[in-house]
Amino acid sequence: MGYYDRLFESSHISGLQLKNRIVFPAIGTHYANRDGTVSQRLIDFYVKRAEGGVGLIVVEFCAIDPFQKGSTAELGVWEDKFIDGLSRLTSAVKLPGSKAALQLHHPGRLTDTRINGVQGVAPSAVPALTMREVPRELSEVEIEAIIDEFVEGARRAKEAGFDAVELHGASGYLIYQFFSPLSNLRKDGWGGNTLGRTRFAREIVRRVKEVLGGDFPIVLRMAVTDYQEGGLTIEESKKIVQIMEKERVDSISVTAGTFDSPVPGLVPPMFMPRGCHTGMSAEIKKVTSLPVMVAGRVNGLKLAEQIVSEGKADLICMGRALIADPDLLKKAKEGREREIEVCVADNTCVHSITRGIPGNPLVCLMNPDVGREGEKETKAEKPRKVLVIGGSPAGVEASRVAALRGHQVILWEENPELGGRWSYLLKSYIPHRVSVLRGLGVKMELGKEITLSSVLELNPDIVIVTMGLAPATPLIPGLEKAKVFQADDVLSGKVRAEGRVAVIGGNNIGMELAEFLMKHGVRGDQISILEEKWAGRGIERFSRRSLIDKLTQCGVRIMVDVKIREFESNRLVFRKKDGTEESVEMDCAVIALPRIRHDALAGSLSRSGLQVLSVNACQSPSDYVEAAEEGASIGREI
Ligand SMILES: Cc1cc2nc3c(=O)[nH]c(=O)nc-3n(C[C@H](O)[C@H](O)[C@H](O)COP(=O)(O)O)c2cc1C
Ligand code: SF4
Repeated sequence: MGYYDRLFESSHISGLQLKNRIVFPAIGTHYANRDGTVSQRLIDFYVKRAEGGVGLIVVEFCAIDPFQKGSTAELGVWEDKFIDGLSRLTSAVKLPGSKAALQLHHPGRLTDTRINGVQGVAPSAVPALTMREVPRELSEVEIEAIIDEFVEGARRAKEAGFDAVELHGASGYLIYQFFSPLSNLRKDGWGGNTLGRTRFAREIVRRVKEVLGGDFPIVLRMAVTDYQEGGLTIEESKKIVQIMEKERVDSISVTAGTFDSPVPGLVPPMFMPRGCHTGMSAEIKKVTSLPVMVAGRVNGLKLAEQIVSEGKADLICMGRALIADPDLLKKAKEGREREIEVCVADNTCVHSITRGIPGNPLVCLMNPDVGREGEKETKAEKPRKVLVIGGSPAGVEASRVAALRGHQVILWEENPELGGRWSYLLKSYIPHRVSVLRGLGVKMELGKEITLSSVLELNPDIVIVTMGLAPATPLIPGLEKAKVFQADDVLSGKVRAEGRVAVIGGNNIGMELAEFLMKHGVRGDQISILEEKWAGRGIERFSRRSLIDKLTQCGVRIMVDVKIREFESNRLVFRKKDGTEESVEMDCAVIALPRIRHDALAGSLSRSGLQVLSVNACQSPSDYVEAAEEGASIGREI
């Protein structure tokens, strides 16, 4: 163990002893039942992390009010009826020796009528930048009622066996909204100066302590800056921490950024440095004697140990790292660090739970077993020879599950590497998957020419086809005379786009392509991206913001809401939303549009009498999660 002495030593939050300094922070899973009660799936998810050896598990955001939830599938604690399920959860999590806290949550303005059927509420009627609806300003009576809901939530948590509660004052939710001068414009005793803006949080802490006793620990989770002009600064957060310490809060959990922030610190994507918030936790530590936790891309134990050793935090939150590999600590203790599945910060997880009307279940790019902790793949009744065509996530998952079930699996991919259409986002996933599939005995043939006769020659019992999509070519006058490539061919290195490049399509593929071109010698100011709708479709929100900023800073022109009209010699003419026309100079254009269906191979294989199963989900570039899930379920069917 040696190297991780500080990390694995015991620690505490007031009187609560923790066996080490590692915390699994609140991670909304949407695995609860639709009525907010605890499901077995939710228990299995947390038990797996507890068995992995973390000191403290903070159970995800949990609604204190049935009409003010942040998502349609949020866990609930607004009535005593929840205590039973929550008790089953705490007993299971505490069995392997972890301690458990429950995160109490009120979204304030960060919710809408689609979720709750009623308007969101806030300290002031100021909408969040990322929400469509204006919240209703809370009356003083209503504020008091919400404080009571927090207190009742804490009481139920204690009765259910939780060792502590965490107040969700981060991410832009209600407690943050009271703290921030941007969202709290109140002139009464709940707003004004720093002290006034902390009154809501102070009252919650004071009354929880009054009801549950001073020794029941309360953690305050804070976004210590929102990176917004006129918003919450680290300097003001230091004052807030001092005020809250006097109010006898027991620990501060440091995060940074909200859903509105220009810097995507809330769930830092791969473009942000590892351990990006530790400078801020170090600042907070300077003004308090309370144990300070920090989160933010601490995806390895060496970094975690270093942060503790340098005194920048007392407890380390490892959220996505433990989604990706719940056995991270166990593997490190057993000297099996090479087997750790490292979180690559692609943010598939946060995209899965927040897209559309929030309520979809959590999934992870690196860990296909997340949310299936209580399930085991059953062995197939009759092992068969299975050919999987296509090394996209669908093909990879179909191969993995089929091999786990005892089939003899052969995976063919035309390209020299796995990943298919999404190879950019999935770059880090590829070597990992290659080794998983190898370990399961899947015979992989990459760069393979796939024809009807090569399949017939192999003579498989079952063929799973996952390449039912082909690049689209739009009908644009003059296209036949212009130098035009497909994004797939550029990204795979088959062709080289040089000089002034017009990228047709600003979805994730177009953005990826622009970055790729810059890495391969094209200057940013030589690249123009033209998009019919909005930029970065298919990229999760935190990565999207970073990538667009990065490209525009490098001089890439991103034009949205445009319709391409025609190619003229070395010019691409387009129409803008206001009806006017413009053009960009170009030496070549690259088409980066969503793929279209192309089932020719599957059709001819079926006609030749083979048993063929096709994956249909791979329609849009952002659908790799659905595609992977469909691939896995086909693997389970055979
Ligand atoms: C899928 C997902 C769900 C999250 N849900 C919550 C939540 O319920 N409450 C909360 O305070 N933070 C939530 N977060 C933020 C994490 O707790 C954590 O602060 C963030 O992911 C950065 O830490 P990490 O890099 O270790 O993942 C969530 C993050 C992710 C990725
Ligand atoms: S989906 Fe990606 S970012 Fe999220 S936990 Fe898994 S590997 Fe990490």
